Amino acid sequence: MPAFPSPLPESAIVATLRAAGCVFAGDEARLLLAEARTPAGLADMVDRRAAGQPLEHVLGWAEFCGLRMAVDPGVFVPRRRTEFLVRQAAALARQAADPADPADPADPAGRAGPGGQTPRRARLVVVDLCCGSGAVGAALAAILGQVELHAVDIDPAAVRCARRNVAAAGGQVYEGDLCAPLPATLRGRVDILIANAPYVPTEEVGMLPPEARLHEPRVALDGGADGLDILRRVTAAAPRWLAPGGHLLFETSERQAPQAVAAVTRSGLIPHVASSGQLNATIVAGARPAAAGGPGG
Ligand SMILES: C[S@@+](CC[C@H](N)C(=O)[O-])C[C@H]1O[C@@H](n2cnc3c(N)ncnc32)[C@H](O)[C@@H]1O
Repeated sequence: MPAFPSPLPESAIVATLRAAGCVFAGDEARLLLAEARTPAGLADMVDRRAAGQPLEHVLGWAEFCGLRMAVDPGVFVPRRRTEFLVRQAAALARQAADPADPADPADPAGRAGPGGQTPRRARLVVVDLCCGSGAVGAALAAILGQVELHAVDIDPAAVRCARRNVAAAGGQVYEGDLCAPLPATLRGRVDILIANAPYVPTEEVGMLPPEARLHEPRVALDGGADGLDILRRVTAAAPRWLAPGGHLLFETSERQAPQAVAAVTRSGLIPHVASSGQLNATIVAGARPAAAGGPGG
């Protein structure tokens, strides 16, 4: 229901959106009507959507893991498939918090995960690298309850947006390159290092749908020649930051997974791949062995 008598009938909005190529024109029209605060605001939203702006940028939010995350124009829109990364991280985090909990998501028999057992912790430390809107870290914090959350992005627009989403979890957002802006006190203390970094190979950025190509920044998409440039850097840095028994997790394509696993192995972490056919998602994880001595890497 709109907050005012709408000068535009719903059917006219649906027709405009359909003519602009919006497949779910009916659902989108209802969302725009519910979100607009004034008739002029509604007309502007319909125009922007019909001109090809992502629905989430027009609404100002995206649904992610059942939560409403603020997403500003020019900031990467969190994808449904990334909910799989969050769920995998939540399962591994619960295991780190309580080693008696048979929560290895890849192990239906419930044996200890690849990192082995870790001491019970009251408040897990979570770092969300390449955080964009902050949706990944904020959703993980909402699932886990009490966590110490730190998030980083290189793009000032993303950092501003993430501060709004991460605030609910009492988290901190830093601007800078990967781990560089993190406080040194986090070294060797991170239970979950999660990174949905850019992983599209440079040559394929031009083939992305226009909503991504034209409305999301290139720095959010381009992962270098094979798409793994940033993830290799994240993987190389991870052992310095992970606690014993802590986990690195990131999203890749299915095709990239073997190379990503090789990078995880080179960094001294124990690799693990999981995928969801339903969400068309692949994640690669790396566990720091629980018995390791001081932080390496
Ligand atoms: C694919 S988007 C993902 C955003 C968010 N994690 C999500 O899933 O919605 C990648 C993000 O990485 C950020 N990024 C790219 N290179 C970076 C770097 N070197 N250090 C920190 N952030 C970086 C981009 O600004 C962008 O926000």
